[in-house]
Amino acid sequence: MKQATMTLDRDYEIGAIDPRVYGSFIEHLGRAVYGGIYEPGHPTADANGFRRDVIGLVRELDIPVTRYPGGNFVSGFNWEDSIGPREERPKRLDLAWFTTETNEVGLHEFIGWCKQANTAPMYAVNLGTRGVDAARSAVEYANHPGGSYLSDLRAKNGSKEPFGIKLWCLGNEMDGPWQIGHKTAREYGQIANEAAKAMKWVDPSIELVACGSSSFEMPTFGDWELTMLDECYDAVDYVSLHRYYGNRDDDTRAFLARSVDMERFIHTVASICDSMRGKKHSKKRLDLSFDEWNVWYHSNQRDQEIWKRDKWGRAIPLIEDVYNFEDALLVGSLLITLLRNADRVKIACMAQLVNVIAPIMTRGSGGAWAQTIYWPLKQASRFGRGVSLRAVTESPLYDCKDIEGVPELDATAVIGEDGGLTIFAVNKNLDEDIQLTVKLRGFGGYKAYTRSTLTHDDLKAVNTEDNPNEVRPVDGAPTKLDGGDVSIVIPKRSWNVVRLA
Ligand code: AHR
Repeated sequence: MKQATMTLDRDYEIGAIDPRVYGSFIEHLGRAVYGGIYEPGHPTADANGFRRDVIGLVRELDIPVTRYPGGNFVSGFNWEDSIGPREERPKRLDLAWFTTETNEVGLHEFIGWCKQANTAPMYAVNLGTRGVDAARSAVEYANHPGGSYLSDLRAKNGSKEPFGIKLWCLGNEMDGPWQIGHKTAREYGQIANEAAKAMKWVDPSIELVACGSSSFEMPTFGDWELTMLDECYDAVDYVSLHRYYGNRDDDTRAFLARSVDMERFIHTVASICDSMRGKKHSKKRLDLSFDEWNVWYHSNQRDQEIWKRDKWGRAIPLIEDVYNFEDALLVGSLLITLLRNADRVKIACMAQLVNVIAPIMTRGSGGAWAQTIYWPLKQASRFGRGVSLRAVTESPLYDCKDIEGVPELDATAVIGEDGGLTIFAVNKNLDEDIQLTVKLRGFGGYKAYTRSTLTHDDLKAVNTEDNPNEVRPVDGAPTKLDGGDVSIVIPKRSWNVVRLA
């Protein structure tokens, strides 16, 4: 059997894990909102039309923050369309997704949903077709206690209490030509700076995310970050990163190596932020908001057909990737990567939450079920809270088409508030188990461990409404320990959560 070691020292911490790294994202796109979280008339719908079965699955994920309302959608969105009496709200053409937005679900409804789903809103303002004025007005409407036109309008619309939205995105992917009103880095930096200034004048307690480049592969990447930060470094708190992966060539080993790309991406953006910090002689360090990440490719072709058929439709089934087992392995590895970078990545949003590239799927008038990728997200969110430890791992390596030296065993560790130690591990070797020896230094003697393993013979196995448990973790019985090193077999092609108590 192959061998790997992990050395953990209680004093070697990467840093506290910000719970917001287990965030998610709901965009007005396809069936994410309409037919996803919201379906009046559904047997489980509450008085506001929100599906309680979906809320149940979301609560299980324990998502501290949910980005909303886009995404590309936000670059053409008037936030004012989404308030006031529903029957008076305008229907608009959404040029991001070529659909019709009815605004049946708006700001008040979303805030209500957040409360039920036990999550906090992360609200994006439109810096595509709108600008500084709309951005500062949105903050006043949402957060000002009262006594001004917009805060009183909020009260008139049903919420005397301010929404208290703490986290705001300054537009979305503004270097992408697919964005309405896309900008040069200099233009974006200037408008982001002015919007940020005014938004914080309205509510100094808010935190702001500036748009990094929409992808590591964009020709604009790098120079975009440098130039826009030159304009807005002092006014913002985080820089965004977005990244999606796909196994388009059906090369699973190469696909599973994408976590290495994510790690490089994080380090590169952090370096750019630090170089701007140097240039500005600033005391402030910018942290990162990885506010879109996931696997996305299964639905690409189907979407073209849907658009041919249903352009300008409402809630058309766009970007509905059906995730398989190997996708869950990569998602596990990406979560491990985020934990390894907990000192810098403070916010991360799996994109998205329901139906649209999502861990949760629904059928209209039917059931709601967990896709394969739901499980690593849920387990990391539940057990990956506390302090991320610097896990020194030695693993067999493999080469794939574009990355050399990929660790077969991708693993990290978290120490919880109760002192319990959790190890997350993905074995990317498709054919062989790996014997992992965990060398523990400076910990009290652990008495036992439990493990939960997600594996499947078929890399392409999926969960469906009729068979929702095809791919799900299996919990093992507790194993006694004698207080020394721990030896665990990590099965081939598996995601594992090992908890020492
Ligand atoms: O998550 C789907 C889309 O991907 C988002 O709207 C956009 O920001 C990104 O390109």
